[in-house]
Amino acid sequence: MGQVISVIGNKGGTGKTTLSHMLGHGFGLFNRRAVAILTDTYRDKLSKFNRTYLPYDAREPQDLERCAAKLASAPDWVGIIDGGGNRPEMDEQLAAMADLVILPFRDSHEDIRTLMRDLERFPNAYALPSQWPTNRFAEASAQRSVNGMLGRYRSRILAPVYALSCSKLLLQDELPILPTQLHNACREMAMQVMELLGMEVGDSAWIGRDELAQAQAGVPAALIQRAELAYA
Ligand SMILES: Nc1ncnc2c1ncn2[C@@H]1O[C@H](COP(=O)(O)OP(=O)(O)OP(=O)(O)O)[C@@H](O)[C@H]1O
Ligand SMILES: [Mg+2]
Repeated sequence: MGQVISVIGNKGGTGKTTLSHMLGHGFGLFNRRAVAILTDTYRDKLSKFNRTYLPYDAREPQDLERCAAKLASAPDWVGIIDGGGNRPEMDEQLAAMADLVILPFRDSHEDIRTLMRDLERFPNAYALPSQWPTNRFAEASAQRSVNGMLGRYRSRILAPVYALSCSKLLLQDELPILPTQLHNACREMAMQVMELLGMEVGDSAWIGRDELAQAQAGVPAALIQRAELAYA
């Protein structure tokens, strides 16, 4: 049976869609078959052009059912369901389908308050600090908020995914060439999730820059370097 991860939470804009695609890309880089499942009716389907994972349109309930059925009989696949803000009933349904529930939150008291309610509603879910500040002082301040407000949920808080402006590239319809720092962030996130799911991380193939260039439609390495410089 394929594994299902639901990236949900009641607060909008926490990074659910970005993180779903980062995970899909990260799994793809580890040679795992992954599908990023769109359920938000206010968002558009993305093309699979250049991607190492498959975007799947499940905005219609019957398509979500079909996708869940396919995953149930596809042990090699990982499905990552991208939720949508302000949909508590839908979140219940998506959590019930999942082997792992991830609740992203940003460094804001508003996000953290909403997260606390979600952590109570979904006792097996993990909280993921998202768009986390990279500035030393801002990170220390964010950490203080987390310690102060989320102390009793400490064991359920994952390692942060830092703010990375190039992460928005993953949500372009046709995937452009991605800089190495984004590949690395996606790999790290996928590794963390694989460990949580009890998947063998060590067995996964590590795709290097050359293979990646091939995976990205034979794009020359020089162009990849240029993309990296643009986001350095
Ligand atoms: N790690 C990150 N670094 C920088 N910006 C980010 C990161 N993750 C998300 N963002 C930005 O934050 C905004 C919200 O992200 P996203 O659309 O993924 O959130 P969402 O939870 O799916 O929102 P919604 O609830 O509307 O579906 C976007 O502009 C996105 O580019
Ligand atoms: Mg979204």
